[in-house]
Amino acid sequence: GVGIYQGTDGYMYCDGLRIDDIRAAADSSPFYLYSKERIRQNYKAYQEALQGLDSIIGYAVKANNNFRIMQFLRELGSGAVLVSGNELRMALKAGFDPTRTIFNGNGKLPKELELAVANGVLVNCDSEFDLANIQAAARNTGKRARVLIRINPDVDPQVHPYVSTGLAGSKFGIRNTHLQWFLDQIKADPNLELVGAHCHLGSTITKVNIFRDATLLMVDFIKQIRAQGFDLKFLNIGGGLGIDYQKKGDILPSPKDLIDTVRDLVSSLGLTLIIEPGRSMVATSSCFVNTVTGVKTNGNKNFIVVDGSMAELIRPSLYDAYQHIELTAPHPSAEVQKFDVVGPVCESADFLGKDRVLPTPNSGDGLIVMDAGAYCMSMASNYNMKLAPAEWWVEDGQKLTKIRRGVTLEDHFRNAGWELAAKLVQR
Ligand code: LLP
Repeated sequence: GVGIYQGTDGYMYCDGLRIDDIRAAADSSPFYLYSKERIRQNYKAYQEALQGLDSIIGYAVKANNNFRIMQFLRELGSGAVLVSGNELRMALKAGFDPTRTIFNGNGKLPKELELAVANGVLVNCDSEFDLANIQAAARNTGKRARVLIRINPDVDPQVHPYVSTGLAGSKFGIRNTHLQWFLDQIKADPNLELVGAHCHLGSTITKVNIFRDATLLMVDFIKQIRAQGFDLKFLNIGGGLGIDYQKKGDILPSPKDLIDTVRDLVSSLGLTLIIEPGRSMVATSSCFVNTVTGVKTNGNKNFIVVDGSMAELIRPSLYDAYQHIELTAPHPSAEVQKFDVVGPVCESADFLGKDRVLPTPNSGDGLIVMDAGAYCMSMASNYNMKLAPAEWWVEDGQKLTKIRRGVTLEDHFRNAGWELAAKLVQR
């Protein structure tokens, strides 16, 4: 098997390894565990879907910024989509081709824009002040800035409001009513080259007709822009494809379904398509591995308390997101109960799952949260002084490698400049 799955023996696996064996080999808990092969296959699904189209796959690094994972995607041929100066620095260090790299965001800083322009990275223009900063970056670096204009198409992605970005009231992009002003400014500035148009609707999208609706609107904008003499090359339709978090056997649209709904529009205009997948590239490749601390009952509620928490994985607390939960080993008894799976963090919002039907585990048993490759580790915090967990991946089906070590208390003190405290921990 490939990825995180239940074997015919009832144990959970990551590629060819039993997760319980990995737990025994790992030196800490909780931790993140990835299937390298699953990442490769997710990338390949996009690559194959895009055959015959000029295209750039820009992996949205915000979903997971593990350096080894970034390097691996770059080796596979991916470009990168970045939303901060530090993500940009990491992507350059990981060797991404700057001309296949896009710098997005509604609050890009002047210095960050200079770094992007100096390196020939494609830059997304999000507002009036952003344009002014891009112009200054081009002036200061003596380089022409290659700009995509982010248009807010006002299409409802039908997802949780926190991950919806392309509606009229969103903080992202410009409304088409302002488009002409931007075109005039760009035309008047020889340091700028308008190379494309961008939109991004939201995340966890499970209906691909939404991408077609938005692309149809974008095609109109592109025609308008071209009619004014701009040589537009790129249509960037953003990211946003959802994955099957529920595990109820639903058939969700694949990258091919997504690309097929826009293919004719893109090729008829002779455009290069840019897509910016984050979640659909990495989410399914990983699980968050916990150890059960104990089980308790309050009133009519049962709890499984584990060592992981909202500090390492905040999506359930923040978006009421469902991520499937399994015990790592089959249980001797078939009896199940309803549990909330919670962490040790001191607040009631700290849960990984609610009303999950599971056998009653023992202290020390393994419990995994599935589909944890996207927006889990990258959103981890130090709340309650929980420190960033280690990350491991399985390579070549069998080989377990630590791809990031966990942060220790000593690291934590040292990073804060508290050398004395760091020395005390050492002793
Ligand atoms: N491009 C842009 C401009 C974006 O804003 C995003 C995500 C992406 C691409 C990648 O979208 P994806 O393919 O991953 O859906 N923390 C939330 C998700 C926030 C997404 C923000 N923007 C979550 O955990 O569900």
